[in-house]
Amino acid sequence: MSKISQKDFLLFNKSCKDMSELFDSSIDLIYFSPPYNLGEKYNKYKDKRTFSKYVKLLESVFLECERVLKSNGKVIFEVAETVFVDGKFVALGALCQNICLKNKLYLETRHINYALTKNYVEQQDHGWNKDFYTRKNAHSNCQQILVFSKKKIKFKNGKINYFNYNFTKDHSCPFPKEEIKFVLDNYFKKGFNVLDPFMGTAMLGKEVMERKGKFIGYEIDKTIFNCAAKNLR
Ligand SMILES: C[S@@+](CC[C@H](N)C(=O)[O-])C[C@H]1O[C@@H](n2cnc3c(N)ncnc32)[C@H](O)[C@@H]1O
Repeated sequence: MSKISQKDFLLFNKSCKDMSELFDSSIDLIYFSPPYNLGEKYNKYKDKRTFSKYVKLLESVFLECERVLKSNGKVIFEVAETVFVDGKFVALGALCQNICLKNKLYLETRHINYALTKNYVEQQDHGWNKDFYTRKNAHSNCQQILVFSKKKIKFKNGKINYFNYNFTKDHSCPFPKEEIKFVLDNYFKKGFNVLDPFMGTAMLGKEVMERKGKFIGYEIDKTIFNCAAKNLR
């Protein structure tokens, strides 16, 4: 495991299924996008496990998120509403919500993002186009930003956003910049400790540091981890 520790960021090159390096109740905001188990190309990391192993990974990560989150903190993640894996349809957003509930994390708001990128297989009205059936692995054009907290608060209606999802030379699916801005404008305060357990190239970290917060990130792939470290330095 390698670790890079600086005044305003702390990065780990290891799996986030165990984040024992972090103290209980030490994080103000957790924000991430998990891998979808679709065989996405993340350099060397293989995004394809058996379904039960994938669910176990999500369960461990959410358990850890609950442990490290402060009592008034938030766990926010962006997830495709549905995925289509090897001919099987999975309601991924609902699966994650269930795991959160088991870990006493309660849904507070749901924002909806539609991808403006042209080659998506689901139409903006939620209909699937013909490519969906001919591709083995795909995910919906409709992504959700789900906001959870440890307290049971009254559910608030979220916003509908249209974002450009584009790959970069270093990563196949970074957060859209507009989405990071949207989440931080609404949920971040100066001085916050912000954790991304699946940080990729740390797009989020850059913005957190610019806003005078501390960023903590985990990334399993060495090459992507090195890019993240370079970006933040
Ligand atoms: C959906 S991408 C997130 C991209 C990130 N939001 C960004 O803006 O670059 C998921 C990332 O999680 C990494 N990953 C997958 N499994 C992991 C694990 N168990 N622990 C830490 N990172 C993991 C992948 O290598 C990939 O970079």
